[in-house]
Amino acid sequence: MQTDSKTYSRLSIVQGDITTQTVDAIVNAANNSLLGGGGVDGAIHRAAGPGLLKECRTLGGCETGSAKITKGYNLPANYVIHTVGPVWQEGANNEDALLAKCYRSCFTLAGKHGIKSIAFPSISTGVYRFPVDRASRIALKEIYHELVTNIKLERVIVICFDNSTFDAYLSAEKELSSKK
Ligand code: APR
Repeated sequence: MQTDSKTYSRLSIVQGDITTQTVDAIVNAANNSLLGGGGVDGAIHRAAGPGLLKECRTLGGCETGSAKITKGYNLPANYVIHTVGPVWQEGANNEDALLAKCYRSCFTLAGKHGIKSIAFPSISTGVYRFPVDRASRIALKEIYHELVTNIKLERVIVICFDNSTFDAYLSAEKELSSKK
């Protein structure tokens, strides 16, 4: 597939709070229960209100690497795509492949629901301790692949909550775009 500068201009890497993003869908870095938690999971549930947990209770959990979708409730986003990233275990447990699968699972659901704009947090790099330099390269590789193959996807935003995450994603983008 021919790529051009437009392909990658559909990706933005920003610092901010994913709960304020006005996009079709935001991605939640959840746990297998899908019943809420801390970090971005806690922030999304707080901002969405109790309706989100009520719907999550009907989903029967989510496997690591998979994703499930709910409405956005009080969030500005129409949907929340919940995915469960791998807990970092020194790379001994297929973590790279499982993290890549999270992004692909989210994009598969986005495609099924006609989602044209989607915001991701830095999945697995908080409580789950996945090294952010490694995770950012995995994330951007999957995002670039989707942007090249799915012309209907208009916008992908990676929302970095803190400076170090933001720096890691910017340097990953610089490294990968020099190889494009
Ligand atoms: N907006 C965007 N990113 C955020 C926000 C927010 N409001 N709050 C936290 N983050 C960032 C964190 O700083 C980190 O960079 O999201 C990234 C992912 O960190 P976690 O939320 O800890 O998620 P993860 O590492 O995948 O661990 C998942 O944590 O909260 C629990 O229930 C969750 O058990 C699950 C585990």
